[in-house]
Amino acid sequence: MPAPDLRLGVNIDHVATVRNARGGFYPDPCRAAHEAIMAGADGITAHLREDRRHIRDEDVERLKRQILTPLNFEIASTPEMVAMAVRVRPHAACLVPEKREERTTEGGLDLGTPGLAGTIVALGESGIRVSLFVEPDPAVMEAAHALGAPVVELHTGAYAEAVLAGDESRVAAELARIRSAAGHGSSLGLEIHAGHGLTEDNVGPIAAIREVVELNIGHALISAAIFVGLADAVRAMRDAMDRGRAGAS
Ligand code: PXP
Repeated sequence: MPAPDLRLGVNIDHVATVRNARGGFYPDPCRAAHEAIMAGADGITAHLREDRRHIRDEDVERLKRQILTPLNFEIASTPEMVAMAVRVRPHAACLVPEKREERTTEGGLDLGTPGLAGTIVALGESGIRVSLFVEPDPAVMEAAHALGAPVVELHTGAYAEAVLAGDESRVAAELARIRSAAGHGSSLGLEIHAGHGLTEDNVGPIAAIREVVELNIGHALISAAIFVGLADAVRAMRDAMDRGRAGAS
């Protein structure tokens, strides 16, 4: 059986990072969202962090008004963020751990986080598809399933770091961990996404995991966009994903 389609969610946070470096209005993350969609993105992802270091409240509102393609908001499980999501109603919300001092989302969500079950219910009742950003581990899949989340996004950061380090045995071990979590999660009925640290060069083996149906990618795309433009960066990532997917077993 051919593998299901693999969607690309483009994370536009770092367009806002550049904008915020000078204040003002450009580069505009909404314009980036439009260009990414025109180039083949299946969804747009944005992370409204507690410290508003990149995406801001007005970006969230404008994205919702302007973008018809599915929007995925990454948020922490806090009353403030849940209230925002329930008001704006994105297609999906990915619950992430958030520490003020971190540079990016480090590690997966602790599924014992107080209030998490209530957040999942509140978002779900508002028609928002809830995803949990988690470590690729079969036991974590069981816990995510028990919490009633329909989707998990597997953290691929450790895999990406192993590729960067050129450590083949670690790469193989991390891929095995991701494959096993994806297979187990899918057998429990979870929809499987993946993301973090993915690039044109390392995305192939992740795209080849048939249970994975969506990848969320930001930093590598916005970095490539500086040199080739966002549309070409998205198209090149799509090509790399498609080549990987063609090898799905
Ligand atoms: N998925 C989640 C849940 C994230 O927090 C991030 C980083 O914002 C990404 C995907 C994208 O990671 P990267 O920017 O490394 O592609």
